[in-house]
Amino acid sequence: MKILKLGVLVSGNGTNLQAIIDKSEIGEIPAKVVVVISNTEEAYALHRAKRHAIPAFVVKPKDFPDKRSYEQKMIEILEDYDVGLIVLAGFMKILSPHFIETFRNKIINIHPSLIPAFCGKEFYGMKVHRAVIDYGVKLTGATVHFVDENVDSGPIILQKAVEVEDDDTAETVALKVHQIEHQILPEAIRLFAEGRLRIVGRRVLIER
Ligand code: GRF
Repeated sequence: MKILKLGVLVSGNGTNLQAIIDKSEIGEIPAKVVVVISNTEEAYALHRAKRHAIPAFVVKPKDFPDKRSYEQKMIEILEDYDVGLIVLAGFMKILSPHFIETFRNKIINIHPSLIPAFCGKEFYGMKVHRAVIDYGVKLTGATVHFVDENVDSGPIILQKAVEVEDDDTAETVALKVHQIEHQILPEAIRLFAEGRLRIVGRRVLIER
């Protein structure tokens, strides 16, 4: 099977990036991370990329006169590396409609809740898990979805739930959700790489 080339966009620790790299290296997914882009040089994910000899770039919005030219730089890099799928793995910038149109249905994101709960502009990082605890829900989880013009709103590919126990805190929920993320993000990539995802309106049908 043809190997799908992945471009991974990151802003932070990069444990999801690591999960993808690891599954790719052991041949569990027919995909390979060919380039990593971060919007900050602080991202530990950059070290992970370097350790695996994956080209990594820092593209910072403030180095460009406007959002269009900032995104154009990323588009150039992603096209240079001929990526077939862009994975947002803890990427903290909102992409413009132009960027999304350039790679229509070729961008996926991982979000640390069961969308449509605890998602949208205000819900990122630990804020999601604090809101989960404050609200008192008994289930939370993670969602992989295609990216469209709105935040966390594109068609859902995979979701997996975890239980919120009485003694859980935002921190322990975050740990549980991360473990789930490391399963469903590579799994969604595998399904995409195998050509088994079909978008029908808001639904993503998975060919068995
Ligand atoms: C994950 O929780 C992901 O859902 C969210 O950002 C976090 C990134 O974690 N979008 P990591 O950098 O992959 O460890």
